[in-house]
Amino acid sequence: MNITENIKYIGVDDTTLDLFENQYAVPEGVTYNSYLIEDDKIAIMDTVDRRKSEEWMARLTEALEGRTPIYLVVQHMEPDHGGSIAAVMERWPEVQIVASAKAVQMLPQFFEGIDFTHRTITVKEGDTLSLGHHTLQFVMAPMVHWPEVMVTYEQTERVLFSADGFGTFGALYGNLTDCRAWPGEARRYYYNICGKYGQPVQQLLRKAEKLDIAMICPLHGPMLTEDLGHYIGLYDKWSRYEAESDGILIAYASIHGGTAAAALHMARLLREKGASEVTTIDLCRADMSAALAEAFRMKRLLLAASSYDGGLFTPMYEFLHRIAIKGYKNHQVGIIENGSWAPCAGRIMKEAVEAMKDVELIEPIVTIRSAMKPTDLPAMEALAEAMMS
Ligand SMILES: Cc1cc2nc3c(=O)[nH]c(=O)nc-3n(C[C@H](O)[C@H](O)[C@H](O)COP(=O)(O)O)c2cc1C
Ligand SMILES: [Fe+2]
Ligand SMILES: [Fe+2]
Repeated sequence: MNITENIKYIGVDDTTLDLFENQYAVPEGVTYNSYLIEDDKIAIMDTVDRRKSEEWMARLTEALEGRTPIYLVVQHMEPDHGGSIAAVMERWPEVQIVASAKAVQMLPQFFEGIDFTHRTITVKEGDTLSLGHHTLQFVMAPMVHWPEVMVTYEQTERVLFSADGFGTFGALYGNLTDCRAWPGEARRYYYNICGKYGQPVQQLLRKAEKLDIAMICPLHGPMLTEDLGHYIGLYDKWSRYEAESDGILIAYASIHGGTAAAALHMARLLREKGASEVTTIDLCRADMSAALAEAFRMKRLLLAASSYDGGLFTPMYEFLHRIAIKGYKNHQVGIIENGSWAPCAGRIMKEAVEAMKDVELIEPIVTIRSAMKPTDLPAMEALAEAMMS
């Protein structure tokens, strides 16, 4: 499938994978993107997950039409992209791997028994590689997921190969520029995969500003060919941990329903008070990665949870752990706790919130005993007011 006259898409859909990275549900599948640049010297841009090696090798072989590739550019060593490197090395002994120093260092870790001596070209920031009419310019992007990551700017056609950056969940079924997964699934992908690395993403965006980019080719999901400012603008916002909505997410974890009732009552109160957007998520049932993305999208977060064995009910514990490790910041958080004999959920949620950088706790913390009663309404009202201001 041609993207431009000389750049071919040779990526594959994976529609049978249940969990990406063994943790993120991908009901619409995922792609492992790979590209072929045809020139005097042919370059392959990344490989694919081992799950799809055979299908990818068939595509690559067909696209090559009997020619021999000269370079395999490895932008990211993670197995969803580096998984078929060995297959290339075995099939074409003359191929040279082009990668960052860190990636070259990692190669033997992933492929025991393959001798990479004299088979790698190490590149650094600003290095270029001429293929004939095309010139690849390498831009280091450490921690735009992993430390060895680099992206590649092709100067003639002005294409940015962006590694995991601008990636999206969802299979493409041959519709290479189908951006329906933006921003929803792109956001879920971003915050869960790259969320912790906002600062490195910012650094990469600053470098990208200096390039004249006509197209972005990521390693997952559609190629971006139009309206690039829109997508880059979203990445800029996300990587600065800025909320997209001024609204409130109410995330609740309830054992017997009392906390859930209080959370849903709070949602009604906030809507009555004119909150711009209020969404509710039952953490016991929702996909945690979607809940996490929603927490980052909304300016404010209201946590409501039952006390549990002298601690915090586990779905809320997991949710707080996840948003914390992904670097949740620049948001405001309120708390409702529930307990039947010694409520303690609130204290643990408060400690978790206080440990986060630039997260403001909105008080009062509301304590419900077993089920919300009319006597709880003034406190609920006070919290609702505080969440609105
Ligand atoms: C296994 C288990 C452990 C609990 N541990 C505590 C506890 O340590 N302290 C407490 O006050 N309530 C505890 N509770 C009571 C819950 O917090 C109770 O379900 C809650 O007060 C009512 O809210 P809910 O209907 O949303 O679950 C526990 C309940 C269960 C089922
Ligand atoms: Fe990755
Ligand atoms: Fe990836």
